[in-house]
Amino acid sequence: MGKPAHGGNLVWASALAGCPPSAILDFSASISPLGPPESVLTAIQSQLSNLRHYPDPSYSDLSLSLSHFHNLPSEWILPGNGSAELLSLVGRELSEFETTTLITPAFGDYYRALAAYNAKVLEFPLISAELKVLSAELKVLSADLLEKLTTQHSELSTHYSTLSTQHSLLSTHYSALLLNNPHNPTGVIFSREDILPCLDKFALVVIDEAFMDFLPPDEQQSLISVVQDYPNLVILRSLTKFYSIPGLRLGYAIAHPNRLQRYRTWRDPWSVNTLASAAGVAALSDTEFQASTCSWLPKARKELFEGLSQIPGLQPFKGAANFLLVQSEHSCVELQYQLLKNHQILIRDCQSFPQLGDRFFRVAVRTELDNKRLLTALQSVLL
Ligand SMILES: Cc1ncc(COP(=O)(O)O)c(C=O)c1O
Repeated sequence: MGKPAHGGNLVWASALAGCPPSAILDFSASISPLGPPESVLTAIQSQLSNLRHYPDPSYSDLSLSLSHFHNLPSEWILPGNGSAELLSLVGRELSEFETTTLITPAFGDYYRALAAYNAKVLEFPLISAELKVLSAELKVLSADLLEKLTTQHSELSTHYSTLSTQHSLLSTHYSALLLNNPHNPTGVIFSREDILPCLDKFALVVIDEAFMDFLPPDEQQSLISVVQDYPNLVILRSLTKFYSIPGLRLGYAIAHPNRLQRYRTWRDPWSVNTLASAAGVAALSDTEFQASTCSWLPKARKELFEGLSQIPGLQPFKGAANFLLVQSEHSCVELQYQLLKNHQILIRDCQSFPQLGDRFFRVAVRTELDNKRLLTALQSVLL
């Protein structure tokens, strides 16, 4: 089996570690260790007898829950089979633009969704070779980056509009932006204020907020509150990470109803299954589970960050989400192999991110006990 392009491939890891997949302690997929919530499992159980029916094609219960949760009319929300499905729909629309700007390193599935429809990608680096060492300043850099992006975009826009008067086929509204906030794999959070100018510059702005719910409500930088003011804005959300249901597949897009109606015509009629739909309703109303995540994550992440910083040769980046990117003086592919072989622990190497390569790895924040096990294992491999 080839090396996986995503985290969480336990079948591949267990073959290397020589143990069953269930014995692997997985730090490679950024999934909450607290879930799935009991309420979600109960909701799934309660729907088993409904598997003999097709799902409600309009997903009225789930749409109503999402509408209450975000205080938005339900026509502005489209549930999907994980945010990955919605990303494919977005990829199709992005292929209609002259270019799609992508901040790199970028989540690997963006390249799949964009390549599937021959969308043209313009890469814009958040980390480049010379910036690698400035981890502590990434937050500042992210603000600079967006400013640079909008300025450069204006210059390009002028260039293209000159061209478009010469060639009528080129549109002045030629370019789109696909931004991940918080950003995977760095954990950088872009501020709402820094993103807003991009909405006036790009013809379409897609913000993937798959990890936004891991931030405390007062620190979140979601653009959902302004979506009704910007017909050129699409927001993607995932329920799979926060509620630990990646095997179920559930996400949603928030955008202008006309755009979502177009997306509906591009996909299967029942892409969200009955169990996922019921799970979503239960998850969104589980305020106790949501609160338990808020009280677990900041402390667990801080302890993991401090533990990693104390290991010679490792430098973690301060991240806003439920994972940490770590720079290493040692080969991370070798480190991954040693951790699997000797400790049945799986970390995410970053070889699939060309800007990062073999000197970076990413780990999910897990429970205090699991995080200690990782730190002890790293120490024994590296010291
Ligand atoms: C940034 C980002 N967006 C989207 C996804 C896909 O999430 P889902 O499980 O909802 O398809 C992932 C999964 O790893 C991700 O890292």
